[in-house]
Amino acid sequence: MITNGFDMLKKARAEHYAVPAFNVNNLEWAKAILLACEEMQSPVIMQVTGGAAKYMGNFKVAHDLIKDMHDALGITVPVAIHLDHGNYQDVQDAVAAGFTSIMFDGSALPLDENVQKVKAIANFVHDDHLQLEGEIGTIGGEEDGVIADGEVASLGDTLRLAQAGVDSLAVGIGNIHGKYPSNWTGLKLDHLKAIAEMISDEMGIEMPLVLHGGSGIPDDQIQAAIQLGIAKVNVNTEGQLAFHQAIRDFVLSNKDLEGKNYDPRKFLQPGTDAIQAMCVDRITVFGSLNRA
Ligand code: 13P
Repeated sequence: MITNGFDMLKKARAEHYAVPAFNVNNLEWAKAILLACEEMQSPVIMQVTGGAAKYMGNFKVAHDLIKDMHDALGITVPVAIHLDHGNYQDVQDAVAAGFTSIMFDGSALPLDENVQKVKAIANFVHDDHLQLEGEIGTIGGEEDGVIADGEVASLGDTLRLAQAGVDSLAVGIGNIHGKYPSNWTGLKLDHLKAIAEMISDEMGIEMPLVLHGGSGIPDDQIQAAIQLGIAKVNVNTEGQLAFHQAIRDFVLSNKDLEGKNYDPRKFLQPGTDAIQAMCVDRITVFGSLNRA
């Protein structure tokens, strides 16, 4: 069932688990993620960056791939089709293509501009009943050409963005896109706690908070963050690493030379299976099993 993501995030926050938000890079990803979530009866956010949409063709190709794969596989669990790290133009294009959930990433902009753009976007995405995620405090690392150092925003700035019209908020709490360096000091859970409490005190709501850079964080830290208000965990690199490792093993063991394994439908299968297994594992850790 394709949905807009409001209810799945609210329920996750209230019941202390997180909805997995898996990035979709191509057809194999879309299929593996949907099969895993149906098997686990987990709600899921299928998210696409501007870069991935460009790779696939455009936002419409990406949307239709996910929607049509969902229909073809007879998926019954709630599925949101989400724009990941959109700029202002990406937001327009993703809405036009039928995305049901939107992230506007204004974290690299001056705060006033981030707030002003979120307000403008909230007006039109809410008219269409789409869920809106904003970001405050940059997330370290590199994703699709967007490079950020990782900066923890003040509570005052965080509140201003939370009040600008977002339904969920991605917070920079020491998390990084891509692989974590060996000297990484861990999630700043105290800051996360302070953000959740402040939003609850000032706005009277339990806003779903979002953890980007979900690959490679120790499971106990992810679970602690979920208890403090994280309701969506983004995972991309872990899928890429699983896909790459499985295909590398396949080739290095010369299995690609057997029979007709040069056929991409066979050659890519170990990678697809590995992504599916990764999703099953993350769903178990995030607690979204049987929450559909
Ligand atoms: P990772 O690639 O580190 O898992 O981060 C994914 C992400 O945050 C997408 O927005």
